[in-house]
Amino acid sequence: MKTTLIMILSIVSFMSAQSFDYVGTGKCKSCHKSDKKGAQYKVWLASPHANAFETLKSEESIKIAKEIGLEKSPWEASQCLKCHTTGYEMGGYEVKDAAFWEEKTDRGRPTKEVKRMTGLQAVGCEACHGPGSKYKKKKVMDALYKGETDPASVGMWRVDEGTCKQCHNEASPSYKPFNYEERFKLISHPYPDDLK
Ligand code: HEC
Ligand code: HEC
Ligand code: HEC
Ligand code: HEC
Repeated sequence: MKTTLIMILSIVSFMSAQSFDYVGTGKCKSCHKSDKKGAQYKVWLASPHANAFETLKSEESIKIAKEIGLEKSPWEASQCLKCHTTGYEMGGYEVKDAAFWEEKTDRGRPTKEVKRMTGLQAVGCEACHGPGSKYKKKKVMDALYKGETDPASVGMWRVDEGTCKQCHNEASPSYKPFNYEERFKLISHPYPDDLK
């Protein structure tokens, strides 16, 4: 009886863990770039998070990698990717996923999978807001905004200091003490006051 219950519970939690997929920042862009709604995409694009994957290819990064005796290039190493990209080994992508690294094309255009994974090559929207496959629809987004849907039920995370500290912590080779209020101001992307 007890084991059956545990089995059912673990199947249910497995299913729900599986049902929220990372879609990539490109999918958030279309609805979140207009100035009259706060242009969250543009604010993000101008922030250091949008460049976090590219940073791994910089001279400074290569120097850090040498200092800690990293065997791979920093942009191919788990030790760096987990904080400098989105959804690494959390269902977004893994090192073995060719589409993340290669620009595989289908008749001259990037395949769907390449597009999705390109959208994970940075600290994207979903690194803070959670995997978007279930909440990205207009109807769901409106309901979330109006408080009619429980964010957790569609995979949207509550963003707070703990979200930031998944990456802004001492496991980072270039860690700087993290003050939430100050750092939040630097990446803040609110709705305009007159959005209703
Ligand atoms: C089809 C359009 C659409 C897409 C795609 C979309 N959104 Fe939204 N989103 C909205 C709308 C509409 C709102 C409500 C506020 C508004 O009108 O701008 C909203 C609100 C939000 C909110 C605030 C929710 C709240 O509680 O107020 C967050 C966070 C958000 N979106 C993140 C994202 C992320 C991350 C993605 C990509 C994974 C995304 N959105 C994709 C249309 C969209
Ligand atoms: C998935 C990992 C991750 C998460 C989550 C994350 N960050 Fe970052 N953050 C980074 C990385 C990596 C950089 C460095 C980017 C670069 O310079 O290329 C960075 C840089 C920054 C910077 C610019 C550095 C500076 O202080 O001048 C600020 C500000 C910042 N993050 C604030 C936040 C806040 C606030 C949160 C939470 C709401 C947050 N971050 C969540 C990984 C993350
Ligand atoms: C625990 C998360 C985490 C890991 C792991 C991590 N980084 Fe970072 N990295 C950050 C954050 C956060 C920042 C932004 C600096 C800050 O505000 O603390 C950053 C900034 C940087 C910068 C910009 C320099 C600077 O001082 O802002 C470089 C270069 C860098 N990281 C390289 C690497 C390399 C190479 C690895 C792998 C060996 C790595 N990082 C692993 C979180 C991480
Ligand atoms: C580094 C973490 C981080 C990233 C990356 C990020 N956000 Fe946010 N976002 C936050 C925080 C923190 C808030 C404010 C707290 C809250 O409302 O949950 C917020 C609030 C929002 C809101 C509501 C604004 C309001 O005034 O209530 C929207 C819409 C939104 N984000 C969309 C996006 C989109 C779209 C992207 C990508 C283009 C994105 N965010 C990237 C952390 C992040």
